[in-house]
Amino acid sequence: MKIISVVGARPNFMKIAPFIKVVSAYNDSEENIDHILVHTGQHYDDRMSKSFFTALEIPDADINLGIGSGSHAEQVGHTMIAFEKVLLEEKPDWVIVLGDVNATLACSVAAKKLHIRVCHIEAGLRSFDERMPEEINRLVTDRLSDLLLTPDELSIENLKKEGIPNSKIEFVGNIMIDTLESNRVKASDLIINEIIKDNFIQEQKSNDFNIFKSTTTPFALMTMHRPSNVDQNEVLEPIIRFLLDEVSLVTPIIWPIHPRTKNQLQLFGLWDEIILNDKLILLNPLGYHEMLKLNMEAKIMLTDSGGLQEECTVLGTPCLTLRWNTERPITLRKNGGASVLVGNNISRIREEFKNTLELNRTPDRPKLWDGNTAERVLEAILKFNK
Ligand code: UD1
Repeated sequence: MKIISVVGARPNFMKIAPFIKVVSAYNDSEENIDHILVHTGQHYDDRMSKSFFTALEIPDADINLGIGSGSHAEQVGHTMIAFEKVLLEEKPDWVIVLGDVNATLACSVAAKKLHIRVCHIEAGLRSFDERMPEEINRLVTDRLSDLLLTPDELSIENLKKEGIPNSKIEFVGNIMIDTLESNRVKASDLIINEIIKDNFIQEQKSNDFNIFKSTTTPFALMTMHRPSNVDQNEVLEPIIRFLLDEVSLVTPIIWPIHPRTKNQLQLFGLWDEIILNDKLILLNPLGYHEMLKLNMEAKIMLTDSGGLQEECTVLGTPCLTLRWNTERPITLRKNGGASVLVGNNISRIREEFKNTLELNRTPDRPKLWDGNTAERVLEAILKFNK
C-alpha cells in the first residue's frame, strides 16, 4: 500500500509526527507501507517549519512543493497544480490530509479528481463561521474524504448532520495529544529564562527581563495570528492598548509573535511602542518543546489558536480564547475544558481576564485523547482497505 501524507503549515507538523512513527513501527514488523511525506511549503521559515521537523524527529519531507506565501487562491491553486504532478507520478492508494490549512483543501481536491482515496485526520470540527478560511477548508475536505477520522464525539454529530454516512466516520481521538504526551518530559526539563534568552526579538535587546530572575514569577502567555484579530487596525490596536495599559501592570506577558502579526504591527505603527515595554516579552515563533514548557507554567493563556485551546485543556492552563466561536467546543470550560470565548471585545476580555487569573489549573482529558490516536488512525486505514 502506498500512502502520501501532506503537511503545509505549522499546526500540521505536530499531527503528522506520531503517524509517521506508527507507520515505521508497522513496517518493522509486518508488510510494507510505502509512505511518502509531501510538504507544500506554505510555511517555510526555519522557526515555522524546520525546527518542528528536528524537534519532533520527523524525517525530511520526500517532496517539497515550495509554494510559499500568497493569497488563498494562489496558495491553493499552486498547491493543486504541483500536487497533481506528484499524484500522477506516484499513484498512491491514499492521500492523508490533516486539520484545516490550505494544503488540506488543495490536496484533498487534487486527489479526489484523480479518484484517489482521501483520509482526513481531524474531521468534523465546525466553527459554523464561513468567514474563517479554515472553515471552508474543513467543509470541502470533509465533503470529499473517503475516511473521516474525528477527534471527539461532537464532530461525529456535525458530520452526520451534513449527511456523511456512518461507514465513512471513525472516532479516533486527538492525534496532537499523542505528540504532547510523548514530549511532556523533555519540555518540562527546559528553563524558562533560557527559552527567553534564546528566542527574544533582537529589537528588544535593551530590555533586561530581570522579572524572570525568579523561576516562580507568574506570567501570561499570549499568541495571536488570526486575520480577524490582526488584519484590521481597529481590532488590533485596542487589544495592544489593553495589553500595554492594563495586563502588563498585573503580570508580565510572554508573546511569541507569528510572522503575520509582526507584519501587521509594523504596518499599523504599533511595533515600535510594544518593543519598548519591558513587561511585554516578545519572542520569535517558538519550537514545540519551548511552547509546551511555557504552556505548562503559564498562569493564564490568551490565544486565538485552535491547537493551543486543546493543549490548554489537557494541561489545565486557564485560557481566554480571543475568538467569538470555536470549532473545538470540547475545549470550553462549560464542556469540561480550560477555555472561555472572549472574542476581541475589550470589556469582555477585561472581565474574563480578571476572573480567569483567580483560577487554578484543572487538567481534563476528553475521551480518546490518550496518546494512542495515531495507532487508531493506521488501524482505521488498514481496516478500510480490506
Ligand atoms: C496558517 C493557517 C492557519 C494556521 C496558521 C498557523 C491557512 C488558511 N491558515 O495561517 O489555519 O492556524 O497557519 O501558523 O492555511 N509567513 C512567514 N514565514 C512563514 C510562513 C508565513 O513569514 O514560514 C508569513 C507569510 O508571508 C504571510 C503570513 O506569514 O504573510 C501568513 O502566512 P499564511 O501561510 O498565509 O497563513 P497563516 O496566517 O500562517
